[in-house]
Amino acid sequence: MPVLEFPDGFLWGTATASYQIEGSPLADGAGPSIWHTFAHTPGTIHDGDTADVTCDHYRRYREDVALMRELGLQAYRFSVAWPRVFPAGYGDSNSAGLAFYDRLVDELLAAGITPMATLYHWDLPQALEDEGGWPNSDLACHFADYAEHMFDALGDRVKLWITFNEPWVFTYLGYGLGVHAPGTTDMGAALKAGHTALRAHGMAVERFRSLVPDGEIGITLSVQAQLPASDTDEDRQAAMRSSAFYNEWFIEPIVCGDYPPALRDQFGELLPEMGEADRATIQRPIDFIGLNYYTRLLVENDENAFLGARPWRVPGHYTAMDWEIYPAGLYHLLKTFYATYGLPLYITENGAGLEGEKPGADGAIDDVQRLRYLQSHIEMAHRATSEGVDLRGYMAWSFIDNFEWSFGFAKRFGLVYCDYETQARTPKLSAAWYRRVIKDNGI
Ligand code: FCB
Repeated sequence: MPVLEFPDGFLWGTATASYQIEGSPLADGAGPSIWHTFAHTPGTIHDGDTADVTCDHYRRYREDVALMRELGLQAYRFSVAWPRVFPAGYGDSNSAGLAFYDRLVDELLAAGITPMATLYHWDLPQALEDEGGWPNSDLACHFADYAEHMFDALGDRVKLWITFNEPWVFTYLGYGLGVHAPGTTDMGAALKAGHTALRAHGMAVERFRSLVPDGEIGITLSVQAQLPASDTDEDRQAAMRSSAFYNEWFIEPIVCGDYPPALRDQFGELLPEMGEADRATIQRPIDFIGLNYYTRLLVENDENAFLGARPWRVPGHYTAMDWEIYPAGLYHLLKTFYATYGLPLYITENGAGLEGEKPGADGAIDDVQRLRYLQSHIEMAHRATSEGVDLRGYMAWSFIDNFEWSFGFAKRFGLVYCDYETQARTPKLSAAWYRRVIKDNGI
C-alpha cells in the first residue's frame, strides 16, 4: 500500500522530444530543422555534438516502446518533427515522414501506452527560418496548417495534444539570447516570435475542436518558482516581475487575453500590441496547462538588473545543470497555477540532469540522486493533489538519455541509460523505482 496515493486515473509517463532522441534528421525526405543547422554550426554545442544519431530512436522505436512497456509506463509524451511532415514548412507534405509517427502511435497503443503528442518542441523547418522564423507573423498560419494535418492523421488515436513546448525557451533563448537555435540576439525579435507563437497556438486549438472533438489540448510552459530573497515589499515585487516574465508571458494572453503589465513596463513598444483580433485568436479555451518544472529562482530587488530583479545563488543542492534542487517550488507553482487559472494541470517534464553516469562493474547504473530528485518532487505533487489541485499526470524527463541541446551529450536525464557507441539501453535504478511508483499509483 502506498503511503502517498494519487487519485484514480492519474497518468504516469515519461517525456522526450523529436530532435533530442530520433536521429536520422534528414531520412525519408525530411527537411533540415533549425536545430540541425544550429548544431552543425561550429561553436554552438558543447564538444561539437549534433543529434545526427543520438539515441537512434527513429530506427529503434519498436525496441524503445517494448522497453517502455517493461517499465510499466502508462503514457508517453513525444514530439513530432515538423520538417519530417512538411520538409519546407508548408506546401507539399511528406507521407514517409508522417508514417514514422503513425507507426509509433500504433506501437504505443498496442503496448497499452497512452500517447501525448507535442506539435512543436523547437525543431522548426529551416525553410521557415529562411523566411524570417517565428518573428514573421505568417508562421502562425503555417503552423495551424501543419497542426491540422497532424490532427487529421493521428487524432483518431491520439487524444492528448500539446501545441508548444516551452515557448519562453525557444523565443527568448533562440531569438533573444541566441544560445538556442536559430541563435539570434534581438529582444524585439524574441517578443515578436512569442506573439506569432501565441497566435499559432490559438489557431491550432480552433482547428483541433472540429477535428478531434473528443480530445484534449493544452500548452506546455517552462516554469520556475520565482521567490523573493527576503520578505520585504521590494523583493516581493521583484519576484512578481520575474514571474511575469518567466512564468506568465504566455499563459496570461491565453487565459486572460493580454500580456502581464510588468512585461509592458519592461519592454514598452518592443512588446507587440494585443489587438482585438489577436486577442480573439489567442484567448481560446484550452483543456489543460502542462508545466515543466526543474528549479526555482530567488531574486532580490535591484533597479539596475534585468526586470529589476537580481538572481541570488544560494548554498544548497544542485544538479549538474547547476539547477538548484527545490521540490517545494513545484508545490508552490501547482497551487498558484491552479488557483490563478483554474485549469487541470499536467507535469509534462521534471527530472535531474547528471554528469559522468556510467554502468558499474555489474553493469548497473545506480542513479540514487535522480531517484531522490524524482521522489521528492512527486511527494510535492502529491501534496498539491491532496489539497485539491486538479493534477492529471506526471511525465518524468526523460525516458532515455539524449541530446541536451547546447549541452550536447554531456548531461544525462534518462531513466534509461543510452550507450551512444553501441546504442544499448540499460534501465537505471530510477527506472526500476519508477516502475514501482506507477504500479502502486503512489509512493
Ligand atoms: C526542458 C526541455 C527539454 C529538456 C529539459 C531538460 O527545458 O523542454 O527538452 O531539454 O529541459
